[in-house]
Formats: sequence, C-alpha cells, structure tokens
Amino acid sequence: MVFGVGTPKRVMLATARFLVLVVLLTGCASSAPGNALVTKGPAAEMEAALYVLIFWIAVAVFVVVEAILIWTAIRFRRRANDGIPAQTHGHTGLEIGWTIIPFLILAYIAIPTLTTISSATAAPTGPDVIKVKVIGHQWWWEFQYPDLGIVTSDELHIPVGQKISLDVGTADVIHSFWVPKLGGKIQAIPNQKNTTWIQADEAGTYPAQCFQLCGLSHANMRFIVVAETKDAFQAWAKNQAAPAAQPVSPDAQAGGKVFAGGACIGCHTINGTAAAGKVGPNLTHIGSHLTLAGATLTNNPEQLAVWLHNPPGVKPGSIMPNLNLTDDQVKSLVAYLEELK
Ligand code: CUA
Repeated sequence: MVFGVGTPKRVMLATARFLVLVVLLTGCASSAPGNALVTKGPAAEMEAALYVLIFWIAVAVFVVVEAILIWTAIRFRRRANDGIPAQTHGHTGLEIGWTIIPFLILAYIAIPTLTTISSATAAPTGPDVIKVKVIGHQWWWEFQYPDLGIVTSDELHIPVGQKISLDVGTADVIHSFWVPKLGGKIQAIPNQKNTTWIQADEAGTYPAQCFQLCGLSHANMRFIVVAETKDAFQAWAKNQAAPAAQPVSPDAQAGGKVFAGGACIGCHTINGTAAAGKVGPNLTHIGSHLTLAGATLTNNPEQLAVWLHNPPGVKPGSIMPNLNLTDDQVKSLVAYLEELK
C-alpha cells in the first residue's frame, strides 16, 4: 500500500503503531534474558548458528521473490489501450525451475539441520560430564543428580565449562525444557526419555521456562539455571546431598511439628525426616533456593507466607491446595522451611 491523500487516518495510525511496536520489540529482544541469539554456551551457539543460517536464506528468498513480483506488477501493468493479453497455460521451464530451486534450498538446509539435531540430542560422554535427570511436573521442574545423590527443583545448578547431560521426562503431561541462552530445547514426553545437553561458559543465573502449553499454569512453570565456578558448585552439591538441618529457633521447631503432623508429608520429602511424599518438590534444602513455586516468587519469608496461605492464588490450578493454614501455622512453617538451607 502506498500512503497518499486518500489513505484513511486510522490505517496510517495503525501502521505507525505497528512500526513503533516492531522497533520496541526489536530493542527489547536484544537485551531480553531469554534471547536465544545472545548465547552463553556451545549447545546454544550451535542452535543459534543454524537459526541464523536459515534466517538469511529465507531473507534472500524473500528479496528475490518480492523483487520479481514487484517488477512483474510494474512491467506488465495494464495500460490505457491494452486489450485482453494472450492466454497461456503452464510453462515447462518455469515449472521445473520453481520445483528444483526450492528442492535444492531445502536439501542445503537439511544437512546442517540434521547434524545439529544429532549433536544437540547426543548424550555427551567424558569424565567431566554431569548427569541430570529432568522431570517435568504440572507446574514445576524436578532435577535429580543420580551420581551426586541430589534431588532438587526449579533451580538447576551447574559448574561453568562442563557439559551437563540431561535425561528429560515427565511425570504427567508434555512439557518442554529450554534454557534460551544455554540451549537444549526438548520435549518432555510421557513414557519417553529424551536426551540433550547444555553448557554455560559464563557464571550467572539464566532464566528458563516450560515451552509447551501444559495446562492452566504453563506460564508459571519457570526455572533458573545457576552456573557457578567448579568450587562453588561442589560446595553447593555437598550441602544439597546432606540430610536436612535440624530446626533451631522455637518458631522453626514448631514449624517442624506442623509439617510432620499435617498434610505436608503426604506430598513432600525432607531427607532425614519422616516426610517422604513424592507428589511435590523435595524440600530438604528449600531454604537455600533463590526462588519458589516454579520460580514465580523470590524465596523470602514474606513470599513464602503468601504461597503457603494460598498456593492456587499464586499458581492457578496448583496441585497443592489452599490448606487454610492459620497465621501462626504459616509463621512457624516459614521459619522451619527457611532454616532448611
Ligand atoms: Cu510445562 Cu508448560
């Protein structure tokens, strides 16, 4: 469309708004924490390189096709004295051309696509590789480190510069595991084990999120990857593998009793106590977590209290119901759980 005197004002306004939006989104995307094109590890780099290659091939196709289209429209436009043009049907040369050219382009794209998929889903091997079993749940992520005796949730700790081999599965519906800056986008499918790997080249906290619509709180199924130095990771792993700390403060001791005597133990495990439920996250070291509830809340006493008072209010549809806990029960549970460092 070419804008002129006759163009309705609302069309011009809508177009202007659209252009502003495009500019804003482009600006946001370059600094967004989930920008998969600003990669921080080799797995993500490999995937981004494939994306960029295909993107530029698509741009070239677009430019060539649009150029021919525009040239044709101008060159063969109807002029004042034109009658009906000669009627033709088919053109063997063109038909063969526009069949063979896309075939060649797709064949050219297929080779790096297949090799990238194969590299991204091959389980890495070597003495440095750390194995993690990833299990998607509605709506949180469970991370088990079988060789280190650790079970945690929503917070995947990894050492910088080492490959992390991931076995991805699900306890219920289909989810999708992806850490945009580190790679590894893969489906978590019932009764199937999918493998992928990630590696971080820089220490930092990388936001991630389930990428498969998986129910009411799909948008609240976030997690973080904490990449740290080898020493920091080992210290973390040693702490996580230890049984739960004994409650110290009177409030925490009261909280321990509320936990053990209530519905909590039906769903949660705290290593070193009688709590051995398997429905919800293992809470042995919940006090050490940076986030809560599918990484939707910051882990602090205030937000933990908000969660305990009404879980479905934070995460609609959450399997953890509103237990109608009293203020005192919540206060003591918060003290207990926050001491589980
Ligand atoms: Cu799990 Cu979306």
